[in-house]
Order: sequence, then structure tokens, then C-alpha cells
Amino acid sequence: MTVTVRAPGKINLHLGVGAPRQDGFHPLVTVYQAVGLCDDVTATAAPGWTLTVSVPDWMDADAVPVTGDNIVDRAAHLLARHHGIDSLAAVSVAKAIPVAGGMAGGSADAAAALVALDRLWALGTPDDDLLALAAELGSDVPFALVGGTALGTGRGELVEPVPDPATWWWVVVPSAEGLSTPAVYRRFDELDPGAPAEPAAADATLAALATGDPEQLAGALHNDLQPAALDLRPDLADLLDLGKGSGALRGLVSGSGPTCLFLAEDADAARDVAGRISRHHDVVLVTNGPVAGAHVVTYA
Ligand code: C5P
Repeated sequence: MTVTVRAPGKINLHLGVGAPRQDGFHPLVTVYQAVGLCDDVTATAAPGWTLTVSVPDWMDADAVPVTGDNIVDRAAHLLARHHGIDSLAAVSVAKAIPVAGGMAGGSADAAAALVALDRLWALGTPDDDLLALAAELGSDVPFALVGGTALGTGRGELVEPVPDPATWWWVVVPSAEGLSTPAVYRRFDELDPGAPAEPAAADATLAALATGDPEQLAGALHNDLQPAALDLRPDLADLLDLGKGSGALRGLVSGSGPTCLFLAEDADAARDVAGRISRHHDVVLVTNGPVAGAHVVTYA
């Protein structure tokens, strides 16, 4: 038997970050949106455990760790342990979400693996248990299960869907070099030692989503990690300027970066912006959101 599950990358339309908690994590108020850059995880019945990863031409295969501590290994073993069974499957991941890019590609793979293996092993894990296992694997894994557009609180793992009736068009520019999420949070602490305990509220972003107007959303986009990401990667400031000069309504670092996002008026405008940016950057992608969370695409 073989199951393929597709899970989306995320962007943060609002990322409010507070001062670190006792456990070292930062309290967040974030608005996640799932976008159409998706990874596929295929799980097949097998006598042992194997994991393989394939990447598109534009992605560096070496950037994805496949030995031992890949988040898909951890997801499989966590689910198997939860049910007291062995993790027996051949799993392959087909990546399209930029790696170490601030779009939660690893989290998407973990979410997809939970759903695929739950089906393959016929476990029927209740949604609440899957969400709890997802939260153990990483702060933004629960969102990859839920998808759509959602408000994230806690360390990002508490997700609540929010209305988002429009379709938003994004130009996505990944970077050849990834950025480490912990390193970006550390730089945030250094740059902003007086950060408030309560992260910035997301009211303006939620109100903008309800209007369906890209100009309104452009004005509301907010990322407290952007100064830290730009401090570690000053070249991203030039990319944001290039996007603005190419007709984007607004440019923004995606999550902890270094992927940059550009909001466009509509699909045609997104293709125009992408065309202009691609005179200077090799990899420029066009996508839209919101899209569904982890879901089965083939089952045979
Ligand atoms: O939860 P996740 O494994 O994705 O987090 C990776 C790292 O990012 C954490 O070890 C921590 O350094 C940082 N992080 C944080 N506050 C959050 C989420 C992540 O400091 N809310």
C-alpha cells in the first residue's frame, strides 16, 4: 500500500514576537497563511525504515539532512511510539518548499508524514492527538496540518482558523544560503533586549484580510524578525528594494528568512513582478494562498 500526502509551506502575514519565555521559546502572535508551494510525502509498506528525499533542479540536495535526525524520522518514530508499534515504511519526500527558508518546509514534511503514516499503518489517530504530536515536533507543525489562514499563539503551536475569503498572489524569492531559525531569534534578542512580554497584536492584519484588498493587506504586513534577518543577511534589503521597484505592493522577509515575499495586486501582476526580479535572481516563484493543510492526494 502507498499513501501520498501533500503539505503546504507557510508565510507569516503578521509575526509579533515577545521577550523569551522561561523555556527559551518566544511568545508569538502570528497570522499564518498556507501557500501553494507544497512538499509531497509518500509512504509505502516495507519491512524496515528508509527515508529518501528528492529536490527540484533549483534546490541544493545537500541542504536537506536525510540521516537520522530529519524531522520526518522524528515524526514517524513519535507516531509509532504513541501507538506502541514499530516504524516500518519506505518514505520519500519530494520537496518544493525552500529549505531553511522561513517557510516551514521541514514542518510541512513532518505534518505530511504524520498523516501519511497514520493512514499507512491504519491507526485512525484522533485529530487532537495528531495536533499534540505535531506540536511536539515543532512550533509550526500544527499549522501545516490545519492549513488555510490561522492565528497562531503560544510559541506558534496553538492555531485557530481565521476567515480569509480572498486569494492573495505572492512572488517568492528563495536564497541559495539558508538561515538558522535559532540564530535569527538570538539576534532578535540582541537587537531588541527590551521586547515586551506580549507580542504585537494581529488586529490590523485580520481586518485587512477581511477586506480582500491587496493594498490593505500590503499596509498591514508585519514581521518582528525582519530586522534580525536583515542584520544577519544585509543583501536581503537590496532584494526587498528590487521587489518594490519591480511593482510589488510590499516586500517582506518570510518568517525567520532568508526567503523574501512580495505581495502583488493579482495573478498577472505577480507574473510581471516575478519576470522583473528574475533578471537579477535565478529562482523566482509565483504562488497563492490560502490553500489546504496536509491532505491525502493518492492512496493505492
Ligand atoms: O519549534 P521549532 O523546533 O520550530 O523551533 C526552532 C527554534 O526556533 C527553537 O529551538 C528556538 O530557538 C526558536 N523558536 C523560538 N520561539 C518560537 C519558535 C521557535 O525561540 N516561538
